[in-house]
Amino acid sequence: SSSSLKMKITSTGAAPHEVQADAVVVGVWQGLEKDDFVLDGPAAALDDAIGGGIRRLLESGEIATAENKVTKILGLSEVAAHVVAVVGLGKQNRVSSTLPFRAAGAAAKALAGQKRHRVAFYLPLRPLADAVCGSMTGCQGQDIYRTEPKLFPFDEILWDTDDSDQLRRGEVLGNAVGLTRNLVNQPANEIYPESFAQQCVTVGTAAGFQAEVWDEAKLTEENCGSLLAVAKGSDRPPRLAIMRYRGGTDDQFPLALVGKGVTFDSGGLSLKPSEAMSDMKCDMAGAATVLGAMQAIATLKLPVNVVGLVGLVENMVSGRAYKLGDVLHSRKGKTIEVLNTDAEGRLVLADVLNVAVSLGAERMIDLATLTGACVVALGKHTAGLMTNHPEWLSVVAQSAQNCGEPAWELPMFDEFRQQIKSDVADIKNIGEGRWGGAITAAKFLEEFVDEVPWVHIDIAGPSFADKPRDWIDGGASGCFVRTLVDVAESLGR
Ligand code: BES
Ligand code: MN
Ligand code: ZN
Repeated sequence: SSSSLKMKITSTGAAPHEVQADAVVVGVWQGLEKDDFVLDGPAAALDDAIGGGIRRLLESGEIATAENKVTKILGLSEVAAHVVAVVGLGKQNRVSSTLPFRAAGAAAKALAGQKRHRVAFYLPLRPLADAVCGSMTGCQGQDIYRTEPKLFPFDEILWDTDDSDQLRRGEVLGNAVGLTRNLVNQPANEIYPESFAQQCVTVGTAAGFQAEVWDEAKLTEENCGSLLAVAKGSDRPPRLAIMRYRGGTDDQFPLALVGKGVTFDSGGLSLKPSEAMSDMKCDMAGAATVLGAMQAIATLKLPVNVVGLVGLVENMVSGRAYKLGDVLHSRKGKTIEVLNTDAEGRLVLADVLNVAVSLGAERMIDLATLTGACVVALGKHTAGLMTNHPEWLSVVAQSAQNCGEPAWELPMFDEFRQQIKSDVADIKNIGEGRWGGAITAAKFLEEFVDEVPWVHIDIAGPSFADKPRDWIDGGASGCFVRTLVDVAESLGR
């Protein structure tokens, strides 16, 4: 099943040494000098209750204070829980916005190696919601199909707070990030266009938004020739899911969130080699991010109008597959020469962005695992931001910053536009050679957003990891769900 696990999230209501839980988490800061530390807040209270044991371990260097490093202390007789996990928070005067999600996630991940039902967190991290989300994310792994899981998600998470709004917000974000990760981690034999579209309907019914699904007949009627071409090689028919959430007033402009939902990318006739294809179940991460964000936005009842659109196709090879040299008729009317069937994401998004414009979107964000070139430019952990509207980009970049999700702008100079000119059609679907490939892809998308303020987020790097990190298992990361919710909130303010 793709619904994320149901974890119970509550307040602790007791001191760290007294709380009834399987494990307790506290945090310690690094000092200004080497080997120095700062022991304050709940960690200091716990230290007092056990007669200074944590301070001694810090002094002897047994407890790591570096960011996201976790030390477990077992069998303290003065503590009700069996395990105390001490997580390093790094230097107190250099706290960055990545800390809440990551430090809480690191502690959770370190404790999830064996079954622990109740875990209580006493961490001085703000925004608390991101920390709560991190604690839910850190204990959930990608081993959904393993008989012996590597990570055992907690049943109950307690946080030391009386801010019930932040606690609830964190729970909603944790469930949304969990939903996105779960969808991305599911392989293409389980998640394909029809089953993904069904998820949109199911999630919408539970969270409070409407999902309309366009099938092949409707897509044909709507002239979505670009999206339909990509789907031709697959036995799985394509879908477009349109999710409408109305939390604002009628006159409030709608925000469109658009996601690339290629449920498997073989490359088509421009076939990928095996190593490049093996992770391509992740090529619907943009769509999964949009669905996760829609779930959170609707559940939190944010006072905004949001339309989520996900273009769902499988890019395959067969006798019916689209070919190099084919000229496609996009919904907008622009003709597209196909010179590489592996540059399929932009073909799908071209029509979906045009539908968003037709629906009256006045602000747009698209998310896509669009180019390997973006990973070459910015690495595995940073998303690329590209725009036709600098002010709108700064809103999105500020939200990413607030949530501690690394993102960096790439330029949209006109010379990149020159590269997608075609000899036979209005445009072609690749640039001249591979240099600047993330930007030529974005310039292609820009052809379909008209003048609507739009930000493109290329998440090819950060959405899927081959290795675990301290605070999250490998596989899907659920990145940018929190950022999208933050953007929606900033519009409601
Ligand atoms: N889905 C891929 C991009 C990708 C690569 C995502 C690595 C995640 C990890 C996309 O459809 C693709 O194949 N892009 C091509 C474009 C090229 C043919 C112009 C690429 O990046 O090589
Ligand atoms: Mn591709
Ligand atoms: Zn792709």
